[in-house]
Parts: sequence; C-alpha cells; structure tokens
Amino acid sequence: MDLGLDGNAALVTASTSGLGLASAHALAREGANVSICGRTESRLDEAKETIEADAAGNVMARQVDVTDPDEVRALVETTAEAYGGIDHVVTSAGGVPSGSFLDMEDRDWYQAYDTLVMSHVWTLRAAHPHLVESDAGSITSITSTSVQEAIDGLVLSNAVRRAVVGTIDTVAREWAPGIRANVVMPGAHETPRIEELIEQALDRGEYDSYEEGLTDWAAPIPLDRIGDPMELGDVVAFLASERASFVTGATIPIDGGRTRS
Ligand SMILES: NC(=O)c1ccc[n+]([C@@H]2O[C@H](COP(=O)([O-])OP(=O)(O)OC[C@H]3O[C@@H](n4cnc5c(N)ncnc54)[C@H](OP(=O)(O)O)[C@@H]3O)[C@@H](O)[C@H]2O)c1
Repeated sequence: MDLGLDGNAALVTASTSGLGLASAHALAREGANVSICGRTESRLDEAKETIEADAAGNVMARQVDVTDPDEVRALVETTAEAYGGIDHVVTSAGGVPSGSFLDMEDRDWYQAYDTLVMSHVWTLRAAHPHLVESDAGSITSITSTSVQEAIDGLVLSNAVRRAVVGTIDTVAREWAPGIRANVVMPGAHETPRIEELIEQALDRGEYDSYEEGLTDWAAPIPLDRIGDPMELGDVVAFLASERASFVTGATIPIDGGRTRS
C-alpha cells in the first residue's frame, strides 16, 4: 500500500529513542523528510543514523528540550525552513515519575503538566500556521492506554495525559477540514525505557532473567507479547497518510488487546 507520504515533511518530538524514534523511522521509510529531537546529543547522532540506514527520507536532528517553549518554537521554524513547510506533526514526550496520589507534591504535578501537556500545546501552536498551508496536514499524539484505563501507581500519567486527548478532540473539530488530529494509546512496547524497568526489577531480584520479565509484562496481553516499537510507528505513519484521510478525532489503542474499554 502506498501511503502517499513521499516528500512530505514530518516533525516528531522526543524522538531519539523508543516510540518517537519508531514513528519518525516509519514516516521516513515511507519517504517523508523527518525532523527529530531530544535532549542528549549522543542519542541524536545514533537516532539519525538508525533512520538513515534504511529510509528514503531526509533526517534532521536537533538538540531540544520540549519543556522549553522557546526551544520548541525554534525547532518548528527550523524544520519548516529546511523542508519548505510541515505536513505532519507527531507529539511524544518523556515519561513522568511513577507513584500514587499521596506520593506526589505540587511540583510533580506541574512538571508532569509541562512535560506531557504544554510540550504538546507549544508544538501545535507553533506548527499550526505551517499545517494550515499543507494540503495533507495531520497531527498524531502519542499518549498511553492510561488515558483510557488507569494504571496502578501511575497517577501522573493517568490524570495529566487526559488533557492531551481533550486537546486533540478539540483541534480535530476546530482545525477541520484542513488538518486531521488523532491520538494513539500505546500499551507496553519494548523500548529502552521498558528495558530499563525490567533491568531494575531484575536487580531487585523480582525476576531471574530478562526473558522472565518480558513474559511477566506480556501476561495480561491477549496477543501474548509486548509490542515492537515499529508496530506503533507503522500505525502513526498510516494515520499521517492519505490512506487515513477520513480518520480524525480518533483515539486508538495499540496494545495487543490489553485494554477492554
Ligand atoms: N514504551 C512503552 O511501553 C510506553 C507505553 C505507554 C506510554 N509510553 C509513553 O510514551 C512516551 C515515550 O516512551 P518510550 O518508551 O519511547 O521512552 P524512551 O525510549 O525513554 O524515549 C523517550 C524519548 O524522549 C526524549 N525525551 C525525553 N524527555 C524529553 C524532553 N524533555 N525534551 C526532548 N526530548 C525528550 C528522549 O531523549 P532524551 O532523554 O535524550 O531527551 C527519548 O528520545 C513516554 O511518555 C512514555 O511514558 C510508553
């Protein structure tokens, strides 16, 4: 299936690793020119090389902290200048601390809000004039299944991420018909972040091997495994594409059937 993304320009935030990187990789494989970012310089080069190794599209990589609005604005403008506009925006962000409601101080809530919500707001605000100029404008936001079903011990993710869904539901109406906007809700995928969580559990003696950790994470998932990040990236590329031209305002789980609602 030709996704019709060849030569389009796509900006993916927080994308030198894991789900953001996989999304940029999948878009570039389909011929889109992609702009990726992250805070750690060494990861930028590695991520750029990973994508360039098997993708047709160009890759630009910038050191940006998405919790800084000036850096986000500069990233959007640099991307638009380099590629002559922006057709697709994919917003992702870093994770937020785990913990229960009583563990969290006010500053934890405000930091989580900047990381998960304001980074997304600043990106959309800056990108809007460019998306309006595109004849294929799309936004896809990567959140979590926690926006649909609360996950134990993750109050910040459960509560704060829901603002992203509300924002996307709103712009899907306010910015239609020119711009489509959707949310993907990942369940567990084997990204460096999840690998680290399994390694930490191994160190605490909760598992005897990494494979036992993977099996444990897969236990509640009907497809009996956790996801490969590219399985999410491919859905993100599809949602950006002409093939999804009648899909907007949707919130799509990519979780191997884990959530029931
Ligand atoms: N993996 C899963 O199974 C899963 C499931 C549900 C939801 N999620 C959510 O999906 C998002 C991505 O998760 P992941 O597993 O792909 O994580 P990951 O492998 O740790 O990748 C996170 C990426 O975001 C970048 N990043 C983090 N904070 C940033 C900031 N302030 N500014 C710019 N870039 C930043 C990181 O680079 P630097 O650190 O160098 O900045 C890295 O490129 C997270 O919000 C996570 O909670 C993940």
